[in-house]
Amino acid sequence: MGNLTLAPPYTEFGPAFALTEEQTFSETFVLHALKIYGQLTGSKPDTVADVACGAGTACRLFAESARTVYGIDISQQMLNLSERAQRPGGCPVQFRQMDMQCFTVPTSVKLLTCMYDSINFMTTSAAMMSFMKCVYDALELEGVFMFDMYTLRGLAMLWGVGAEIHTNTSDYFVATSSVHDKETQIATKSFFGFTRVGASWRKWQEKHTLRAYSVDLMTEYLRGAGLELLSVWKWNLDASLSRFDDDAYRAFFVVRKAS
Ligand SMILES: C[S@@+](CC[C@H](N)C(=O)[O-])C[C@H]1O[C@@H](n2cnc3c(N)ncnc32)[C@H](O)[C@@H]1O
Repeated sequence: MGNLTLAPPYTEFGPAFALTEEQTFSETFVLHALKIYGQLTGSKPDTVADVACGAGTACRLFAESARTVYGIDISQQMLNLSERAQRPGGCPVQFRQMDMQCFTVPTSVKLLTCMYDSINFMTTSAAMMSFMKCVYDALELEGVFMFDMYTLRGLAMLWGVGAEIHTNTSDYFVATSSVHDKETQIATKSFFGFTRVGASWRKWQEKHTLRAYSVDLMTEYLRGAGLELLSVWKWNLDASLSRFDDDAYRAFFVVRKAS
């Protein structure tokens, strides 16, 4: 690719990502989240924030029953795509461009979510702790925080290895190649993309860097921020949840802001 400038994550790749069936991940996450929230509180959350909301799929679904929904993402390109997430009948979603390491919401919420391994983008302890502090500040007392993340095993064996053609449509072609460093538990995926512009193709490149953490370390970060881990689940490849074990590629955390 010569000396092509690297685009920030989810700027060039955003539209290709939003096109794919990857959106079904957040749809399933919302179903799990509303079910578990209902079991914990006997109600539906009427105030919700989805952090690293991407193209806003989850926000749209929460907006069907909530009165306030905030969607936060660092990528303006992803937020631009979220316009189409607005649906008649739901409350209007308030989208804000912010870095999750220092995000705020105008009013505290009962449910806060961060889905589809977005939390793995926190690649330093300082970043993760800063994010957790923001989560604490954004939640009402007894508010619930749910997120998923790649486990150490998941990043090393699934996301962080191999090469694939991610997208091959009439307007986008995206190939990726990943490397994983087991010392740091950090993996980097290089995206090599082509986007159709009229009769020609524009080439671009992005790099996404994720870090995996043990459940024990995440529990420490949560506790350090005043958040209480209620349960952790194994997110199976068929998107069902079951008892967490060491074979898990992805973990699903249910957390509360302790009173
Ligand atoms: C895998 S996508 C998931 C998007 C959405 N949650 C979903 O389920 O489809 C990861 C998202 O995290 C966002 N992101 C990455 N780093 C971020 C940061 N520091 N602050 C806010 N958003 C971030 C990206 O822009 C992208 O939209």
